[in-house]
Amino acid sequence: MKHWHVDQVGWDRFDPSKVDPEIVPLVKAAAMVERNAEDYVTYLCRVFHDDPDFRAAAEHWGVEETQHGEALGRWGELADPSWDFRAAFARYRAGYRIQLDADASIRGSRTGELIARCMVETGTSSYYSALGDATEEPVLKEVCRLIAADEYRHFKLFYDHMKRYLARENLSFATRLRVALGRIGESEDDELAFAFHCGNEPEGTAYDHDRCIASYMARAMGFYRFRHIERGMGMIFKTIGLEPRGRLSDLAAKGAWRLLRWRRERYQQALRRALAANENASAPARAA
Ligand SMILES: [Fe+2]
Ligand SMILES: [Fe+2]
Repeated sequence: MKHWHVDQVGWDRFDPSKVDPEIVPLVKAAAMVERNAEDYVTYLCRVFHDDPDFRAAAEHWGVEETQHGEALGRWGELADPSWDFRAAFARYRAGYRIQLDADASIRGSRTGELIARCMVETGTSSYYSALGDATEEPVLKEVCRLIAADEYRHFKLFYDHMKRYLARENLSFATRLRVALGRIGESEDDELAFAFHCGNEPEGTAYDHDRCIASYMARAMGFYRFRHIERGMGMIFKTIGLEPRGRLSDLAAKGAWRLLRWRRERYQQALRRALAANENASAPARAA
């Protein structure tokens, strides 16, 4: 049973005057990553092939993630009636696939796989909380609130299974930390960048990872407030077996907050450079 259904959202309350144009491209990109969850279900079911409880949970999880994609895609089409979610998603599917032919986790262990899943859910839970708090548009606010609640439940789901496997596999703290940090670093890989490309750049534009990740991150990082980072840091600490509400977590959250603001500035600079290069390239050649 899903906790909510996409048709229960109050779509008729959509208010175009409250749409922040900086949020729209983020929602379009996120819609595709979420909608693409089925492949992760296939992958997880292969990795956990002899664990029927987890496989059932993963199937259910995938249904909820797919619904996140449907809800965000529907909002994207309301905010930009010229946007075609299905067409954009078809482009994304044609160009981005995760590796499915795995019979073991790419993280080296099942505990590691579940730690990586906890990191993803920490990220999405914080992100939709941040977007929901930032937007004044009532429908997006509702959608983000519903999704953020799901993401937090997903975190708890993967965390509980992780604890079960940890008791069996006994991963060291250093390995848990390495897997967690590794997965956080992957947020800047192609998955989101290519989703930004397919969701926002006209067909025929060549994909450029650096431009697309800068376009995404320069906007996304601006919507976080310290409380979102603080809460996310608590979830990361809990996952790797540290006290989620202690002095160390507090220090780490303050460090992450400074890093986020610095990275945002860097991404904004990169984006300005990319846009300037683009303008130069498309300007008519001056008389030689
Ligand atoms: Fe999601
Ligand atoms: Fe999730």
